[in-house]
Amino acid sequence: MSILNDVSRVLKYRARNAAVAIMARTGDPLCRIMHRPAGEHTVYAELRARGPVHQPKQGPPLLLSHRLCSEVLRDTRIGMRLPGGRSASPNNTLSGTFIEYDPPDHTRLRRLAAPAFRPRLLRDYRTRIEKVTLDLLHSAVRKGEFDLVTDFASPLPIAVISDLLGIPDEHADRFARNGRLMAESPMGTSRLGHQRAINAAIADLGRLFADLMEQRRADPRDDVISLLTAAESEDRITADELVKTCGLLLIAGFETTVNLIGNATKLLTDDHPAQWALLKQDPDLAPRAVEEVLRYAPPVPFASRICQETVDLDGRSLPPKTMLMLLFAAANRDPEAYAEPDQFLLERAAGEPEHLSFSSGIHYCLGAPLARMEGEVALRAMIELMPNLRVIGEPTPRPTNVLRGYLHLPVAV
Ligand code: HEM
Repeated sequence: MSILNDVSRVLKYRARNAAVAIMARTGDPLCRIMHRPAGEHTVYAELRARGPVHQPKQGPPLLLSHRLCSEVLRDTRIGMRLPGGRSASPNNTLSGTFIEYDPPDHTRLRRLAAPAFRPRLLRDYRTRIEKVTLDLLHSAVRKGEFDLVTDFASPLPIAVISDLLGIPDEHADRFARNGRLMAESPMGTSRLGHQRAINAAIADLGRLFADLMEQRRADPRDDVISLLTAAESEDRITADELVKTCGLLLIAGFETTVNLIGNATKLLTDDHPAQWALLKQDPDLAPRAVEEVLRYAPPVPFASRICQETVDLDGRSLPPKTMLMLLFAAANRDPEAYAEPDQFLLERAAGEPEHLSFSSGIHYCLGAPLARMEGEVALRAMIELMPNLRVIGEPTPRPTNVLRGYLHLPVAV
């Protein structure tokens, strides 16, 4: 990519952020949510009082209801791309990967990647997750005080994705370094040097994946790159799609899981110590704790969809090309779906619907079982090795408005 493209991208990003800040001051709800994520639930409560769908003066309708979001996510007349198949956000790092495709390409590519998450492999990943978790936490305990994100929450998922893709040990650092750069700013950055570094990381990862594909063609193994390379030889995936699918698994599975672990630590040990005490008493509550953290503080707070044809929604007729914003963070606290929605409770009543933090419908998170496993293993190990874990400084929120979590979380054991 030329320097001019980079400059233009950075300027567009800055202009977009400046516009968001201005629009937030004029009261535009989506911009208020994006500009000041810490206050998002105040905005949701205001909007919810006026109904389950909010139509701002400008921009897409905002959906706050769990039921309506679920219906939209399962509606075959509503998709990811513009009618005709053009991408609605070509500058997004995930553009051109199957997360932003509609059927039939979405179905074809998702089916090829899905075997990487089959139960037998997940059982193998668990052994690896437990080992990495223990190694990381033992070194952290030795330090006494540490940054939960950089020392634990971040290296764990990158090690897991390295395994899943089959990145050899000698390339692990290169993969982790590039992966971090690529995943940290999915919507771009305001600094030119940072943008150049992200581009270099994307290019280097492309080279790494291409080299590994070459090796796996000759010597297949039990990993995703071998799986996809076999599909390539049968013309079910192109070389470009293959590289993009590896990049998707890295981006979709990395920062999201980092945020799950960081949010869980802050919510449990700092904000809701009684729930932390409950978990320590009964570590088998760990899977429920993971679900409650995801409901209460979803790492991906919203997603968009586009009407492919005219759709009736909550009494209004939406023409083709209408974009919809699905506010997962609001839907997860919809009083029609959850009792005491603003309470953080590990022991929630049976029969409440699943949160939307992994989405729903055909784009339901492919890595959900893996993320859940990482969260559960992390919590069990933290309880065992650091029962007195506590936050000792101001957490640094992630500087992006599309993900929710911490960049740094200072803790002591
Ligand atoms: C806590 C961790 C995670 C969260 C909160 C999360 C969240 C999500 C969400 C919300 C979507 C759908 C977006 C939409 O509907 O527009 C999604 C899709 C996806 N996720 Fe995850 N994710 C997590 C972990 C992972 C992991 C560990 C992987 C794999 C290593 C992964 C791979 C994917 C893939 C491939 C898709 C695309 C699915 C499709 O379009 O069919 N995710 N994720």
